[in-house]
Amino acid sequence: MGYNVAIDGPAGAGKSTIAKLVAKEKGYIYVDTGAMYRGLAVHFLKKGLSGDDKKAVIDACDAKVTIGYENGIQQIYLNGENITEQLRTEKVGNMASKTSVIPEVRAKLLELQRSLAREKDVIMDGRDIGTNILPDADVKIYLTASVETRAKRRYEELSAKGEHITLEKIMTDIKERDHRDMTREVAPLKQAEDAILVDSSNMTIDEVVRTICDHCR
Ligand code: DC
Repeated sequence: MGYNVAIDGPAGAGKSTIAKLVAKEKGYIYVDTGAMYRGLAVHFLKKGLSGDDKKAVIDACDAKVTIGYENGIQQIYLNGENITEQLRTEKVGNMASKTSVIPEVRAKLLELQRSLAREKDVIMDGRDIGTNILPDADVKIYLTASVETRAKRRYEELSAKGEHITLEKIMTDIKERDHRDMTREVAPLKQAEDAILVDSSNMTIDEVVRTICDHCR
């Protein structure tokens, strides 16, 4: 078993930014599980499916999602094609949130996530890592921030990439996603009992990284 650090929290809390920096400092492999759900979401969108059409989504779960690393950066492959560049749009994020409520979608990605943690020292981010995927993780962090802070961060991230979307729309999307992620029946987002709560609303990136690194081996 590798040394495992789990980071869960709502959309836009900064999990991937922070986890990448902790991984670099500590020499862990960074595993972004949201990217796996997004990888499947790209497949569903390519097939023109509605995220509400549960049966069609389940039928389309035969797609192969795999993960690899290029220069230490996680890549997602869909049926062998590298689709990493297509993952981080609002459309894909919303589709991933909608379809991740479906137990068959979650079951498909569970073993891929667990097997990575068995083999390597990882810092894995997601929604149910500390509660469900790695209940015995060595360190569990619940990273959150206010809705306003998270919306502003996501707005800046998307604007920098040239995606045109208003702050209001992002705020609405985030609230909707929080609700869906936290109330779904299977593996909802919640703080594990033994997780350390870190609210990054008024913290710098460096402060958050330091706080988490201090809890790790
Ligand atoms: O972290 P993210 O925004 O890339 O995740 C996209 C969606 O995938 C998120 O809204 C919910 C889902 N997800 C999940 O259900 N469980 C995970 N471990 C990671 C992501």
